[in-house]
Amino acid sequence: MPEGKTIVLGVTGGIAAYKAVELASKLTQEGMKINTIMTNAATKLVSPLTFQAITGRPVFTEIFDSTASFQINHISLAGTADVIVVAPATANTLAKIAGGFGDNLLCCTILASKAPVIIAPAMNTNMYDNLATQDNLARLKDRHFAIIKPASGRLASGIKGTGRLAEIETILDSIHQILGKNGDLAGKQIVITAGGTQEFIDPVRYITNRSSGKTGYSLANAARDRGARVTLISAPCALREPAGIDIFQVRTAEEMYHATKDNITRADALIMAAAVSDYRPQTISAKKIKKKSSFITLEMEPTRDILNSIKGDFLRVGFAAESDHVIENAALKLKQKKLDFIVANDITSNDSGFESDDNKVTIIDCSGEKTSLPLMPKREVAEHILDKVAFLLEQREQLRKRESE
Ligand SMILES: Cc1cc2nc3c(=O)[nH]c(=O)nc-3n(C[C@H](O)[C@H](O)[C@H](O)COP(=O)(O)O)c2cc1C
Repeated sequence: MPEGKTIVLGVTGGIAAYKAVELASKLTQEGMKINTIMTNAATKLVSPLTFQAITGRPVFTEIFDSTASFQINHISLAGTADVIVVAPATANTLAKIAGGFGDNLLCCTILASKAPVIIAPAMNTNMYDNLATQDNLARLKDRHFAIIKPASGRLASGIKGTGRLAEIETILDSIHQILGKNGDLAGKQIVITAGGTQEFIDPVRYITNRSSGKTGYSLANAARDRGARVTLISAPCALREPAGIDIFQVRTAEEMYHATKDNITRADALIMAAAVSDYRPQTISAKKIKKKSSFITLEMEPTRDILNSIKGDFLRVGFAAESDHVIENAALKLKQKKLDFIVANDITSNDSGFESDDNKVTIIDCSGEKTSLPLMPKREVAEHILDKVAFLLEQREQLRKRESE
């Protein structure tokens, strides 16, 4: 959990320095302690007072600081860091870090720290493409610095190209992932499906459902932040693609089956949070169906049952979105699909389920034990589900060990 962790946030003299204020704000809201270090050039673009006000903590700019009582700033800041994040990182600072320079507080702190370092470069496209910059980035990558690639788009100079600071959410993903790398799912591989599949009627129309994908995406983020290697098989949804996760975009139930099968080989667990169509049109019209005054009939055929079609020695977690006899129907599905546990939710409730940010679920396991959780954000529901996944995987591991002894 990121709460209580200390981040050293290095802000350098790029035009995107103002975006680091939002990053500092979000990290502070998550309960982290932010020690901001600004280069001299950064202070010309954003006032240190802004970071001080947002983080509620002092901002550091000088190596030679007569107010730093008995501590030497760069040594003490290096020691506090769980993670060091440089955002934005200028071409100049990249070169200095790659070269091992220590002529400012930020570079000295990085040299003096054993904490993981995340670098988010931002600069004009030509500066980014310059072989010197690319060479410096390659050297940093070789030394296991986490580099967050800049995005493409309109730059401050007016031209379009690569060099925009990556989205703040992407930088946050990377921080969460690094902080959670030794979590209770470290070393585990988890495949998660999400969203509502689409079954085509003709080239422009399809049948789908109200799934927003929020449950599957919350599970994927949470599993990544507990150390798992996550593969997300996503049906179309309007959510941002999280960083640090292998994502496969699919549309139909059949495509979801193939993507899941292709990625399951080394998985420890499969969590089927997607709302997969049960039926699809028997034929897809090659041309757009024209409007007529008469009725039309769509012949539907069942889609492939993904959980039943994929075999293997992985933990199987299903979901049951039900409108009636929720627990009974979920328990039946648990048995039929030979799941380790199932997450049941009542989709008729207005404040939970489809599209909502919250959910109220009951977890039923194969021994028949039921755990009913109160209404809570989907991310928290995801953490509860992953608690159970981590517990069951640990149990399996212990069993395997005992059997091999
Ligand atoms: C208005 C302005 C915007 C700048 N934006 C960038 C930038 O986005 N990326 C970059 O690498 N350099 C940028 N520079 C150049 C750096 O500020 C300059 O190389 C400086 O020496 C960087 O110092 P630092 O790395 O210690 O912060 C900008 C300069 C100015 C005047």
